[in-house]
Amino acid sequence: MTTESMEVSAHAKVNLTLEVLGKRSDGFHNLASVMQTLELHDSIRLEAAADVSLSCDVARLSGEDNLALRAARALKEAGAVNAGARILLTKRIPIAGGLGGGSSDAAAVLIGLNRLWRLEWPVTRLSELANRLGSDVPFFLYGGTAIVQGRGDEVVQIPPAKVGWFVILAPDIELTSKTGKMFSLITPDQYTRGVLSHKLAGRIRGGGDAPSQFFFNAFDAVADRAMPELRTYRDGFRSVGAREVTLCGAGPGMFALAPSREIGLAWQLLLQRKGWRAYLTSAWWPSAKGITG
Ligand code: C5P
Repeated sequence: MTTESMEVSAHAKVNLTLEVLGKRSDGFHNLASVMQTLELHDSIRLEAAADVSLSCDVARLSGEDNLALRAARALKEAGAVNAGARILLTKRIPIAGGLGGGSSDAAAVLIGLNRLWRLEWPVTRLSELANRLGSDVPFFLYGGTAIVQGRGDEVVQIPPAKVGWFVILAPDIELTSKTGKMFSLITPDQYTRGVLSHKLAGRIRGGGDAPSQFFFNAFDAVADRAMPELRTYRDGFRSVGAREVTLCGAGPGMFALAPSREIGLAWQLLLQRKGWRAYLTSAWWPSAKGITG
């Protein structure tokens, strides 16, 4: 029986660490990052169709430049596929917040269409395509807890990090070409050697916990210059009780580990009372073979 439709979920991520190691000759930067997928996710329905198309419940994401749509077109071309697909995207992950929503949608579409179109490509082959779509996309083909290096294309899954509840604050700040701008603010004296990431990964591999004192994001040192309003949000987050507040990717989203679900819920409600978008979510791991879906 041919699969005519399927549902895939596209999970958000946080970077427990994000170190910038240096600039490469291709203009990108080498990174070392411990990444973790979250329960918070977008939902994607894929339906067999003659052409490739995408519609999204957020109108401004329905255009041709949507990364998930570009992922579908790229896979169709690379796999010389005759069929098409209708992609129906329901967003829940804050948009352009540093939580990897667009990249995760793209990866979920690659995983789903790989099945719908019966390509049966191994994840390593999908990963080459994913890497061309964006530096965060390869990680989402794996999900869970991983140490990510290179441009973002060297992904090694590690055992689940012992982390519980995350509170995410999504400031209402928009910065055009955000990621590129944020990288351009990092100066060589802010480059690190990946030791923090490897230390945390080692601790997780050894079965230890992942306390927030081990978290680090190189963009935290420069973010306020690009987005001065961030300070108000960070101070507000601390004022409700969060001690270690870390940027999500290149921001402006930020996260803190809550000591319990109840305390996390209290932080979320207090942040929402300020009129801010706040989420309570937990870490998420794929169920089988490291493939989401
Ligand atoms: O790959 P992605 O589209 O996410 O990258 C957006 C921009 O962020 C790139 O054009 C580049 O300026 C910067 N970047 C970088 N090094 C990385 C990832 C992204 O310099 N590893």
